[in-house]
Amino acid sequence: MDRVTEARTQASSPSVALNGSTPMIRDTFLPFALPLIGEEEIEGVLTCLRSGWLTSGQKVKQFEQEFAAAMGAKHAIAVNSCTAALHLALEAVGVGPGDEVITTPMTFTATAAVIEHLGGKPVLVDVEPGTLNIDPTKIEAAITSRTKAILPVHFTGQAADMDPILEIAKRHKLAVIEDAAHAIPTRYKGRVVGSIGDITCFSFYATKNLTTGEGGMITTNDDARADRMRLMALHGMSKDAWKRYTQAGAWHYEILAPGFKYNLTDIAAAIGIPQLRHAGEYHARRLEIARRYTAAFANLPGIETPTVHDDVEHGWHLYVIQVRPEGMAIDRDQFIREIVAANIGVSVHFIPLHLHPYWRDRYGWKAEDFPTAYAAYQRILSLPIYAKMSDQDIDDVIHAVTRVANAHPMR
Ligand SMILES: Cc1ncc(COP(=O)(O)O)c(C=O)c1O
Repeated sequence: MDRVTEARTQASSPSVALNGSTPMIRDTFLPFALPLIGEEEIEGVLTCLRSGWLTSGQKVKQFEQEFAAAMGAKHAIAVNSCTAALHLALEAVGVGPGDEVITTPMTFTATAAVIEHLGGKPVLVDVEPGTLNIDPTKIEAAITSRTKAILPVHFTGQAADMDPILEIAKRHKLAVIEDAAHAIPTRYKGRVVGSIGDITCFSFYATKNLTTGEGGMITTNDDARADRMRLMALHGMSKDAWKRYTQAGAWHYEILAPGFKYNLTDIAAAIGIPQLRHAGEYHARRLEIARRYTAAFANLPGIETPTVHDDVEHGWHLYVIQVRPEGMAIDRDQFIREIVAANIGVSVHFIPLHLHPYWRDRYGWKAEDFPTAYAAYQRILSLPIYAKMSDQDIDDVIHAVTRVANAHPMR
């Protein structure tokens, strides 16, 4: 039995029937996200521990090769987070003090923090109303003589509209670095995210579509930038540990730059290799969950389901619904409270960057400066969507959302 079939048929938590009729709540809490880890990952880690080689070595090399092949990219560089990947990518395209990088408010703070780590400045461009991806029609107005790069985020796993972004970047000689933390696997007009822009950065954080606990990957087709990122990922050293500590290696190395310590371990790669091999199977299950949710919520006036463009293959890392004030008498916060009371874990992606105290105060951003992101923020919540969910889990989510939405009709 494959992993998803095994998980889907496990009625892990039978719902509690009240009055012998329709179940109202689950008897246990459904976490918002859980990894699906199989025996191959466990065996892989044990083999690695027994081998005596724990840090970056042959497992990392193998993971990089398989990842590069899956993404159709020339180079894949394994690192210990997507944050590290973004930092290295921006450094490799030359972002430095005073430089500006254009990105979206609908992201996690890491996307912008790494720009500041290099002395640069994040410049936000509002999102499109449907997909909540960066709005390419607003990018050009944000470009100045200090702009170095555009950093789109493939929000929830749906590709940003890359063709206009690449065209603008080409015209203004800007680098395009993609934050693909949510986007495994994602396609844009048939092209795999991972070989579209100059550099693409992935996350293997514990809740992500492919996990190594913590981890990340960078893909690029650019030889010079790949060399620079490899160098900077490991202290700026001329040789990695494999080349120094194995019989074939030699002790001597040189420091060529003030690098970072961002390498992935072989222990993590041993988890990542089977995770990558199962990525298609996991994605098929998330797609199925998304379709079930969308069909079930289609007729609820208080719920807006995600907008998906025809020309993308959505990675479905997140399933974000919007509470419609026109169709429901409670707001998003109360809706969340009632869903959580029904034992369903939910989250909000994201509290837009410009609403956080640090970013707000640093750049004097006001909520209305990015009106689409701000309006969306007040309505969005993310429902559980992961390969480990059983059929019963999915039914429970659908039931809770439907029941709470129907309990508060507009009068
Ligand atoms: C859009 C986005 N970018 C970057 C990151 C950072 O990823 P990591 O935790 O692997 O550093 C995250 C993490 O959640 C994210 O959602």
